[in-house]
Amino acid sequence: MTRQTPPWAIVTIDVDAERSSRDAWAATLDLLDDVAAVLASAEGIAGVETRDPRTIGGPESPQLVVYTAPEFLDRAQRQAETLMHDFGLRGRLRAEVRTDDDWRDAWKQFYRAQILGEGQLLLRPSWIERQPQDPPVELVLDPGRAFGTGLHETTQLCLDRICALARGPAAARVLDLGCGSGILALAAARLMPSAAIVAIDDDPEAVETTRENAIANDLQARIELHTGDVDALGADAFDLVLANIRAQTLIPRAAAIATLCRSGAAVVLSGILDDERDEVARAYFEAGFVRDAAVEPWPRQRGEWVAIDLRRAP
Ligand SMILES: C[S@@+](CC[C@H](N)C(=O)[O-])C[C@H]1O[C@@H](n2cnc3c(N)ncnc32)[C@H](O)[C@@H]1O
Repeated sequence: MTRQTPPWAIVTIDVDAERSSRDAWAATLDLLDDVAAVLASAEGIAGVETRDPRTIGGPESPQLVVYTAPEFLDRAQRQAETLMHDFGLRGRLRAEVRTDDDWRDAWKQFYRAQILGEGQLLLRPSWIERQPQDPPVELVLDPGRAFGTGLHETTQLCLDRICALARGPAAARVLDLGCGSGILALAAARLMPSAAIVAIDDDPEAVETTRENAIANDLQARIELHTGDVDALGADAFDLVLANIRAQTLIPRAAAIATLCRSGAAVVLSGILDDERDEVARAYFEAGFVRDAAVEPWPRQRGEWVAIDLRRAP
């Protein structure tokens, strides 16, 4: 028997990516995230997903998936094709109208609940229920318009460190630089109950998504939001800075980040590929940071991604 559900439409693009080159693969995923971010705010688009088969398994190549209504399908298809072209990406596109429930929720299979930080923090999408054995501290985060559903290695590296630092002396002021979905700010707010949290992103959409996620987790009163780059923060002093941004953004901002830090402040730099780590570390050592002696092994690594844990020298 066919179930009667309102028709939905989907555009799926299998994106060409160079498997043998780590940098080229990462660059393609970055561009795909950019395409998704632009598409997500277009009229009639109900949702946009990017899928990295290295992270989630499943598709053979990276995918861009756009959910829409049948009357917007042609337009969504044209917009996706134009953006792919503008961002220099190529791929094979399929578009279809569907009426089955199975399809409507199929994309949810790509997400799962995660327990992070040695069992301290549960991260789950809203459609996955808590289990009795789950840690009591949780964040509910649905994939949305901005990067950061906790599935990416660079985000996980930061979350692990937040969990570890939360077990030590309390941080008074925490900065999430490049907040995306707000996941790091939310985790810090949840795990560090006495800390004041500041989240900033130069993409207004990301700041709006962080605001929505903070409200969804009832943490809005704990997180101050800014749109802009590091210089938008003035002379604020932080004792923990989390920055999951790419190396080419981190390197020129070493001195500016140093001025935001109190003496002894912890800094977690993520979003760094293995072969970029020396250059990033050098820039931060020159700016007055030292290796965080409490972190072993140093730097931390997940797959090809590295996190550099530092302290602001007194
Ligand atoms: C890789 S995402 C990280 C998101 C989230 N913090 C996480 O860990 O999953 C990087 C974010 O940094 C933002 N960003 C990039 N360059 C920036 C800059 N110069 N100033 C502020 N935000 C920036 C991007 O818009 C994006 O939302």
